[in-house]
Amino acid sequence: MSENLQREKWGSKIGFVLAAAGSAIGLGNIWKFPYVAGQNGGAAFFIIYIFCVILIGLPVIIAEIILGRTAQKNPVGAFKKLSDSKFWPWVGAMGVFAGFIILSFYSVVAGWSVGYVYESATGVFYNFNSAQSAAEHFNHLTKNVTWGIGMLAIFILMTMFFVYAGVQKGIEKGSKIMMPLLFILLIIVMIRGITLEGSDEGLAFIFHPDWSKVTPKTFLEALGQAFFSLSLGMGAMLTYGSYMSRNDNVPKSSLEIVVLDTLVAVIAGVAIFTAVFATGQNAAQGPGLIFHTLPIVFTKMPGGYFVGIIFFILLTIAALTSAISLLEVVTAYFVDEKNWSRHKAVLVFGSLAFLVGIPSVLSFNIIENYKIFGMNFFDVANYLSSNIMLPLGGLLIAIFVGNVWGIDKVLQELKQGSDKLFTNYSWIVSLWVVLIKYVSPILILFVLLQSIGVF
Ligand code: PHE
Repeated sequence: MSENLQREKWGSKIGFVLAAAGSAIGLGNIWKFPYVAGQNGGAAFFIIYIFCVILIGLPVIIAEIILGRTAQKNPVGAFKKLSDSKFWPWVGAMGVFAGFIILSFYSVVAGWSVGYVYESATGVFYNFNSAQSAAEHFNHLTKNVTWGIGMLAIFILMTMFFVYAGVQKGIEKGSKIMMPLLFILLIIVMIRGITLEGSDEGLAFIFHPDWSKVTPKTFLEALGQAFFSLSLGMGAMLTYGSYMSRNDNVPKSSLEIVVLDTLVAVIAGVAIFTAVFATGQNAAQGPGLIFHTLPIVFTKMPGGYFVGIIFFILLTIAALTSAISLLEVVTAYFVDEKNWSRHKAVLVFGSLAFLVGIPSVLSFNIIENYKIFGMNFFDVANYLSSNIMLPLGGLLIAIFVGNVWGIDKVLQELKQGSDKLFTNYSWIVSLWVVLIKYVSPILILFVLLQSIGVF
C-alpha cells in the first residue's frame, strides 16, 4: 500500500536499538533506581528487580515491539489493524494519552536537570557546605515560576527539535550521537566515584543484600520500576517497533535494550553511592538525592566541579531521548490516523505538552497547596499515568498478544528475523509463550490492584 511505502523506517538495526534504549534509559534509571534501591535493601532489591525484568519486562517488550512491527502503525492504528473489536484501539488511545501526560510532567524534572547544568557551571554549589543548604537552594529555584517554566520550555523545545526532524534524520541520528556520549559520561562519573577514598562503603551498600529491608511491597516497587524504566505499557516500544523492517530480529533487539537499561541503572547506582559515601553524605535521602545531596558531593571531591557538570549533562541527555519517544507516540498517532504532517503534529503537541506541564511547574509554588486526594497536580499526573495507566496498558497488551491475537499468528511473525532462535532454542520460545499468556498478566494484575489500594 502506498501509505506503507511512505512510512519512515530506521536506517539500521543499531539505530533502532539505540533509539529504543534511549527511550528506556532516562530519569527512571539515573534518578529513581538508585534511591529506590537504596531504600529497599540495595542488592536485595536489585535481585528482585532482575526477576521482574526477566519474567515480565522482557516478555512484554517483545510483545509490544512485535505488535508494532507487524502492524507498521501507531498504538491505536495497530490494534485497529490486528483486531475486529472496538475495544482494543481504546487501549492504544489510553497509551497515547498516557504518553502525552508523562511527557508534560517528566519534562518539568528534566528542565531542572537542564537548569542544574548551568548551576553547576557557575560554581554556585561551592557556597554551600551542607545538603541542607543545597536543598534550600533547590527549593528557592523551584519556587521561582519563571525559572521552572523557562527550563520546561527549553527542554520541550529540544525534544521537539529531534521529533520534528523525523525518524531517521532526527530520532535515530540523535540517538546515535547521544547514547554513546551518555555511556562515556556515565563511565567517567563512575570511575571518579570508585577511585575516591572510602568508596568501598558505597559499593558494599549496593552489592551487599540486606534482606531485612525486603517486604511484600518491595516486590511491587520493583515491578513498577521495571515497567517505567523499560518504557512499557503505553506504546512507545510499539511505535518504535513500527519503524522496523520485517526481517529484523525482535527477541535479540529486545534483550539488548533490556540489558543496556539494566546496566545503566546499576552503573548510575555505583557512580552515585560511591561518591555519596566517600564524601560522608546521607545515602537514604530518597527523591532528593540528586538535586539536594549530589551538588554537595561534587564540591567535596577532587575534580568535582567538572564531574558535576558532566553528571547533569548526562542526566539531561538521558531524559531527552526518553521524552523524544513520548512525543513520537502522539506524533505517530496524528500522522497515521488523522493524516497530519509530522511537522504540524510536533508543533501542536509539543506546545500542548508545554501548556499542560505548567500546572506541574506550579505544583512546587503557587498551587502547591491545592490537593486532590492529598496529592498536588504533579503527583496526580505522575500517579495516574505511571501507577495506573502504564501497568493497565501493559496488562492489556500482554493479554492481547498472549490470548487474543492468536498465538500461532504471533509466533509466525516473531519467527521472521529470528529463525535461529526458533530452530536451536525452541524452549525459549515456549517459555516466552507461557510468560506472556499467564505469568506476566497475573503478576501485573497483582501490582495494579496493589497500587490502587485493593490490598
Ligand atoms: N523509561 C523512561 C525512564 O526510565 C521513562 C519513560 C516511560 C519513557 C514511559 C517513555 C515511556 O526515564
